[in-house]
Amino acid sequence: MSMKRINSSQFLVILMFSCMFTDSRGDTEVVCVFMKSCILPCSFQSSSDFILHWFLLTTRDTHVHSYYSNQDQLGHQDQNYRNRTSLFKDQISRGNASLLLRGVKVQDEGRYQCFTSTIHGMKTSDISLKVYAPVSEVSISQEGNRITCSSEGIYPEPELTWSTSPPSNMELQDRTRVQQTEEQLYSISSSLMVSDRDPDLSYSCTVRTQRNQRNQRNQRNQRNQRRVTVRKQRGILVWVVVPAWAALVAVFIMFLRCGKKRARQKGSSEERESCKTKQRVNL
Ligand SMILES: *[C@@H]1O[C@H](CO)[C@@H](O)[C@H](O)[C@H]1NC(C)=O
Ligand SMILES: *[C@@H]1O[C@H](CO)[C@@H](O)[C@H](O)[C@H]1NC(C)=O
Repeated sequence: MSMKRINSSQFLVILMFSCMFTDSRGDTEVVCVFMKSCILPCSFQSSSDFILHWFLLTTRDTHVHSYYSNQDQLGHQDQNYRNRTSLFKDQISRGNASLLLRGVKVQDEGRYQCFTSTIHGMKTSDISLKVYAPVSEVSISQEGNRITCSSEGIYPEPELTWSTSPPSNMELQDRTRVQQTEEQLYSISSSLMVSDRDPDLSYSCTVRTQRNQRNQRNQRNQRNQRRVTVRKQRGILVWVVVPAWAALVAVFIMFLRCGKKRARQKGSSEERESCKTKQRVNL
């Protein structure tokens, strides 16, 4: 990877969010976070002369990125990918054909194909790209007897549920509305008429996708004032455990990389300084 192009915070983000799975078709599944950078992995047995194409598999295959004659070939690149793709130039000759996609949009979801042709033959590998915009903030407000809960900027489509504390067997009559923005992100909002019979009941609203959920509670105490508390649930795992792990891995990789660079470029103090800075940033 070209460290000059990707700063260390982007590097962390990439590590954090390029979670890979394998789906039922045997494709590698990559989950990319909305607006972040993401790596679509691909490797091949390289030779001195080779052709590499990245396609989005649609009815008429979309050209995402091509490389041959030792350079990027972007003449046929689809508009949607302009200025958002790059290869790892220093690793391509070693058979790393992974694609870096920046500023991921919901429209980028789909099946991608990495095609390589060398003297050893042709190879294709398919990658399924999924986009994810986590539930970040849930807000709740009350006007008279109506409580409204809402959240926005979510993908894929979220679900919203209400509950009461203490639990009540009263049926909650809520009206939920889901809208999709131009960027294809979802906004969800729901309102509820609260009963005067149970002034001590507090209402809690949960917005969830398959990958995370957030709660917001409207608590009515004796003076009938509103107190709002946020509880994060599964989100914690993503935001605390994963970054700590990613930071460790990043530091380790950076350490190896800088070591190699140092050996190769003995005497270039500038290079060494930039490596040191990166290590500090990652710590
Ligand atoms: C290719 O290089 C990138 C950047 O260094 C790295 O993240 C990725 O894991 C490599 N992929 C393969 C298949 O070696
Ligand atoms: C791509 O980047 C170049 C140079 O940075 C800029 O001139 C051009 O307008 C950009 N194209 C798009 C489609 O953003």
